[in-house]
Amino acid sequence: MSTLSDAIALRRTFAIISHPDAGKTTLTEKLLMFGGAIQMAGAVRARGEQRRTRSDWMAIEKERGISVSASVMSFEYAGLSFNLLDTPGHEDFSEDTYRTLTAVDSAVMVLDAAKGIETQTLKLFEVCRLRDVPIITFVNKVDREGRETFDLLHEVEKTLALDVCPVTWPIGMGRDLKGVYDLVNDRVIMFDPGRGDHIAEISVDAPLDSPRLDEAVGKAAADRLREEVELVRGGYPEFDLESFLAGHLTPVFFGSALKTFGVAELLKGIGRLAPPPISRKADTRTVEPDEAKVTGFVFKVQANMDPNHRDRIAFFRICSGRFRRGMKMKHVRSGKVMALVNPVFFLARDRELAEEAFPGDIMGIPNHGQLRIGDTLSESEDMNFLGIPTFAPEVLRRVRLDDPMKAKQLKKALEDLAEEGVSQVFKPLDGSTWIVGVVGPLQFDVLTTRIESEYNIKAGFEDGGFVTARWVAAESEAEMKRFMDSNKSNMAEDRDGAMVYLARNSWQLNRAQQDFEKVRFTATREQH
Ligand code: G4P
Repeated sequence: MSTLSDAIALRRTFAIISHPDAGKTTLTEKLLMFGGAIQMAGAVRARGEQRRTRSDWMAIEKERGISVSASVMSFEYAGLSFNLLDTPGHEDFSEDTYRTLTAVDSAVMVLDAAKGIETQTLKLFEVCRLRDVPIITFVNKVDREGRETFDLLHEVEKTLALDVCPVTWPIGMGRDLKGVYDLVNDRVIMFDPGRGDHIAEISVDAPLDSPRLDEAVGKAAADRLREEVELVRGGYPEFDLESFLAGHLTPVFFGSALKTFGVAELLKGIGRLAPPPISRKADTRTVEPDEAKVTGFVFKVQANMDPNHRDRIAFFRICSGRFRRGMKMKHVRSGKVMALVNPVFFLARDRELAEEAFPGDIMGIPNHGQLRIGDTLSESEDMNFLGIPTFAPEVLRRVRLDDPMKAKQLKKALEDLAEEGVSQVFKPLDGSTWIVGVVGPLQFDVLTTRIESEYNIKAGFEDGGFVTARWVAAESEAEMKRFMDSNKSNMAEDRDGAMVYLARNSWQLNRAQQDFEKVRFTATREQH
């Protein structure tokens, strides 16, 4: 049986960030293939299709070509345990993505070799930067004509203000792709376009000055590679682990997810470079992963994963200690002790009971709504992990209920769905119907469809006259009362009863802020 510190050293918990279409799904699939978690390519997608047939809202996902629901996939490779957290790529779901990124220790940024940094890559990168998450770059699709390699890397450096350090280097691109050069071990990894889904790679030891290099890739390509490598070695900084771990430098790999090429190198690279679970900040202190007592936090809640059950699954990241099934932990927010008897691990295809888990692992905890995003469970003293905020929604609409008899059920549906953290529900103090806020408007379509398919209620969303929301608080009760009295038609409560100011336009918000200098307006609300 492994010790806690051994288990920690073997874990890598990461996410893939990319712009839609850069190849995240394909790469995920191939990583799982290497991990032996799936047997053949197409399985991730096939599983996706199967899931989609289950309920209508998944159809929206399919129709729009986006992946709405994030999940966790665990697999092993070369003696290491990897936890890959999937992040939804569409910009409308950035809040969900944000929180998923709070649960990882590193990220792989996938770029399309022909496109470089795209809008969504940039956004997600910025989220990683906020927390100094170390990033490994994978330049994908080198089997197709791409942009000039130096040019592409320059763009990464310039746009992201990040040092780049190539670990492999492409030998040709598109039709002329011969392979990639492993700059650390002086090897050529040969590209064989016919090999498709084979996972074994053919590599040749070929130091740059050796004739073996010419034999392997041809004289012209070898000479060009020699020139390029000279520029690479002269022009880019050496790999510096500290700088990478601080999020200032990104090692770069090249390959083709579709052709399963360069993927093994990437995976080995993640194993070698990406950090094992690191310490985490809580409100009272920093928690080290090798502490004996188990602690962790919920970063995502998914309601109705199985339409036959009303259960929710809370995605729980372990921060310290060795978890054993059946263990009792304190739910800090409520002060209640929970016995965790049926937590699950997410495998590529299935779930299985989590008998034992270590820092970096993600467990799904079935519950009836007690567990919320941002909640801490602790076997140790009371504490709350920090950094999992709720954002002010960017789009607000008023709920329209077609059948007034179903108001109660609708309330339940809205609250259930808000628990997943993608939408927020506000109850106006003037007694009018709920205002729902989301980060992107597409989310309203998803909500409408889910409310109908999962709760059998016909409802819609219409303009409620509000454009933005701010959490408000004041030092003194009297000041708060004065503020609320003069803004009666703008006041609402969030799900936890916290006061929210709904503004009809930005002018109104500015005005309120000027008139009430002692009231604090915040666009994010830390859970604790
Ligand atoms: P995403 O999850 O980031 O949105 O990307 P996804 O993997 O779905 O890939 C987007 C498209 O790019 C797919 O083509 C996929 O086959 C292709 N692709 C991914 N990796 C590579 C690669 O290394 N080389 C090349 N040439 N193409 C790649 P599609 O036509 O949109 O879908 P499909 O019909 O192939 O499934």
